[in-house]
Amino acid sequence: MDDTRKYHIGFGQSDLGQDAPTLVLLSGDPNRSTHIARDRLANARVLSENRGLNSYVAELSDGRPVICATSGMGGPSISIVLNELAQVGVRTVIRIGTTGSIQPYVHTGSVIITSGALCRQGAADDVAPVEFPAVADPFLTVRLAERAATMGIAHHVGITASVDTFFEGQERTASSANPVLMRRLQGITEEYRALGVLNYEMESGTLFKLSSVYGLRAGCVCAVIAERVESELPDLGEKEAAIERAIEVAIAASLGWDPGPSRP
Ligand code: URA
Repeated sequence: MDDTRKYHIGFGQSDLGQDAPTLVLLSGDPNRSTHIARDRLANARVLSENRGLNSYVAELSDGRPVICATSGMGGPSISIVLNELAQVGVRTVIRIGTTGSIQPYVHTGSVIITSGALCRQGAADDVAPVEFPAVADPFLTVRLAERAATMGIAHHVGITASVDTFFEGQERTASSANPVLMRRLQGITEEYRALGVLNYEMESGTLFKLSSVYGLRAGCVCAVIAERVESELPDLGEKEAAIERAIEVAIAASLGWDPGPSRP
């Protein structure tokens, strides 16, 4: 067993115990990881609270352990966390994030399950060519969608634009400090909308590309907290309920999940 404590996530394989979990519920926000482990699952145990990358082990309702870990914001941070999670034996990753819808029919409060990402993220370019597909694991994606449907949670499955910046890359102008939006980004939201892209977020593209390369299965469920057709700003009144729905979908998909054989 690789006993070393990983530098960024702050724990190693030996911290995971006998029945070491191989599934991670990966949130961008450390408070969300704490909440999932402590309030939504059972018997939470701290693995580390290092650099804001809070990690816990906790049990699903069937008694199986999962890791609740934190990716931080954006491609560079999730690339580091994912690499170290793979080193400690993780096989499946479900990202639980937040997102801004760009389609008029995708409303705040619903969830988006990303089947593939338009990956405009620099960190992923260090791992695979720009043309390498940023795709979710198809089985995990169907499972997430089926669980959302069973629970009656409004959901959409499709393509996400995964970008490096919250402001410029998502064409925010009114709420941004930057007075100059480069020409190549002006009108990009309208273009993506016409192409059928559902939403903007900042991690799934890197998550999917790296997971394919590392031999992990990855899925992504995001709570819609902004409707970019209406406003640049997140709807804080709807945010918490939407996140709870995304968490419910991810936990339901985790129950009984079998990652299958490791890649040879
Ligand atoms: N996260 C994003 O990246 N964009 C949004 O609009 C909301 C959450």
